[in-house]
Amino acid sequence: MSKHIIPHSYQVSKNDRIAANKHGSFLIWFTGLSGSGKSTIANLVEKKLFENGVKTYALDGDNIRKGINKDLSFSPEDRKENIRRIAEIANLMIDAGLVVLAAFVSPYKKDRENIRTIVKDVNFVEVYINTSIEECERRDVKGLYKKARAGEIKNMTGISAPYEAPETPDIEIKTEDESIEDSVKRIVDLITTKLQLNNE
Ligand code: ADX
Repeated sequence: MSKHIIPHSYQVSKNDRIAANKHGSFLIWFTGLSGSGKSTIANLVEKKLFENGVKTYALDGDNIRKGINKDLSFSPEDRKENIRRIAEIANLMIDAGLVVLAAFVSPYKKDRENIRTIVKDVNFVEVYINTSIEECERRDVKGLYKKARAGEIKNMTGISAPYEAPETPDIEIKTEDESIEDSVKRIVDLITTKLQLNNE
């Protein structure tokens, strides 16, 4: 089918858009257990970037799993499709000139490698929010771990489904050892050179 799709060449390019925005566009991907702090940290990083005039957009479970991906479960196959679609959406947003922040459990290494392939290595920053399962379960912000222990939720990452930790993330945040302010600052510092246009 795709061999009959011949792209039309649009006159406004990604380069035009990033030149107008005065910053590079790429994807900051936050992976970690449910309740690890991904969304909280992504939110604060976005706020900081936005205050500095960077055009951003945040993707997470709330706007994805309730909308475009509401047909998907937490089986390994559906998680794979969840991550694939998010990567494709992020790829369009990168083309649109945005800095995209995506906070998803994304427990499988292969699925995260697929994101890297879709958006290209150079556009991918992997942030591992490393909070132990014990601490996530203690926090249990959404009450999901309790339900998983009671058998009401199946395939719960960390309890009855695996989490394959990144081996070489671009940055690792240990939320039990580091303040949230320091974590946000380290992430913003890491991406500063990527934001500069001569780096594109
Ligand atoms: S992913 O594995 O496909 O990347 P995603 O980040 O979209 O997961 O959704 C995870 C969120 O859905 C969790 O933060 C949690 O709030 C909720 N959730 C509901 N059921 C599960 C489950 N079985 N495993 C993990 N998270 C779940």
